[in-house]
Amino acid sequence: MSQRSCLSVILAAGEGTRMKSAIPKVLHAIAGLPMVAHVVKAAEAAGATGLALVIGHGADEMRKAVQKFAPKAETFVQEKRLGTAHAVLAAREAIAKGYDDILVMFGDTPLIDAAALAAARQKLAEGAAVAVIGFRPPNPTGYGRLIEKGGRLVAIREEKDCSEAEKKIGFCNAGMIAVAGNQALRLLDKVGNNNAKGEFYLTDIVELAGADGLDVVATEASFESALGINNRAELAEAEGIWQTRRRREAMLAGVTLIAPETVYFSHDTEIGADTIVEPNVWFGPGVKIASGAKIHAFSHIEGATIASNCDVGPFARLRPGADLRQKAKVGNFCEVKQATIEEGAKVNHLTYIGDARVGAGANIGAGTITCNYDGFSKFFTDIGEGAFVGSNSALVAPVTIGKGGYIASGSVITESVPDDALAFGRARQKTLPRKGKELRERFASAAAAKKRAAE
Ligand code: UD1
Ligand code: MG
Repeated sequence: MSQRSCLSVILAAGEGTRMKSAIPKVLHAIAGLPMVAHVVKAAEAAGATGLALVIGHGADEMRKAVQKFAPKAETFVQEKRLGTAHAVLAAREAIAKGYDDILVMFGDTPLIDAAALAAARQKLAEGAAVAVIGFRPPNPTGYGRLIEKGGRLVAIREEKDCSEAEKKIGFCNAGMIAVAGNQALRLLDKVGNNNAKGEFYLTDIVELAGADGLDVVATEASFESALGINNRAELAEAEGIWQTRRRREAMLAGVTLIAPETVYFSHDTEIGADTIVEPNVWFGPGVKIASGAKIHAFSHIEGATIASNCDVGPFARLRPGADLRQKAKVGNFCEVKQATIEEGAKVNHLTYIGDARVGAGANIGAGTITCNYDGFSKFFTDIGEGAFVGSNSALVAPVTIGKGGYIASGSVITESVPDDALAFGRARQKTLPRKGKELRERFASAAAAKKRAAE
């Protein structure tokens, strides 16, 4: 089958009014990726060699988004929403290029798995003209029913056009249909709109192909893979299903999730074996974790690279550009942004490291802040290998701490510190014997006098 060419036509012209959103429905994200991009990924995984997106509502925004996740896709605008067959025909020009298989998919059905699509394509490879992906929803109301006679699929009847007997059929159309490329336009052009909704139904090609003596078959997919998203409750449901699948995949690949239901992955999270993830951890986009790392509870991580055997959190925030090298440690209430924490370096408590390099084996004391921003521009802080930065220090960038440099606690460092130097950037301590007691007595009598005056 791999040598058969395949055009995936993804329908996404719906308005999605039930999302109550200014953003086109299919751009709402699951695991940080627009749902239509999940559909594209599934199509590609099923071997699609061409992509045609049929868009309507929010066309400009859609085109911009599509450019990002599917730069090779062609977009077609369906000016009027006259039904699914009409929508597919908006991509006539792409279909006419002559693909072996045409795979029609919906942009709002993001959990469709590649295996179900490949199974439908396999039927075309075996000689079918149309292969419909069916499923058995717990409640079939609203779906097109697959009408079979003598074990053959003869028609798909939309709910509104169903007889009472047909409404009892549980095997439904998931929406995705594979059509032989050499039949697609001919069949689609025959579709009329003589039905309850007055729409051109894609599903009519089943009956039309049967009438021409062509082979029409149904395959079956899981209920989940056919889940269509119409509102935000369904969006959350799809997110939940996606996360459950991904967690299981991670665990089976050797990652320990202590409380899997509390860990959120992104569509592109990479995580190595023998990494342990404690409860309540969030992975945003762009996270790569090697093996043997420990991600402690309540950490929020995005755009970060974490090498093997690193230790992160609890309550750590790694932002884009955080690059932790082997055995680095970023502890509680620390934020790291656009910074490299080299091998074995420790940033353990209450610290902000932004636009910086922390050299191998350096130790950053509690409460250290890299002052990287003057309100206009960002500046870099370079901390050398083996340096020691005392607690509560402010490193005012641009500034360099040399290898083995030693910063006294509470320093405000505005000038670079050479290798192995000791730097104090704070006022000297002054201690006045008995002055504390005197001061306390003075304050107490002043307060008493004020109280008497008020009586
Ligand atoms: C469709 C199927 C139905 C199936 C169900 C599964 C048809 C006629 N019916 O019904 O058999 O059980 O999906 O969810 O195909 N779209 C356009 N332009 C249009 C019309 C639709 O782009 O003119 C897009 C929508 O944005 C959506 C998809 O096509 O992504 C399906 O359209 P929708 O109106 O939801 O079809 P259903 O009535 O749900
Ligand atoms: Mg629908």
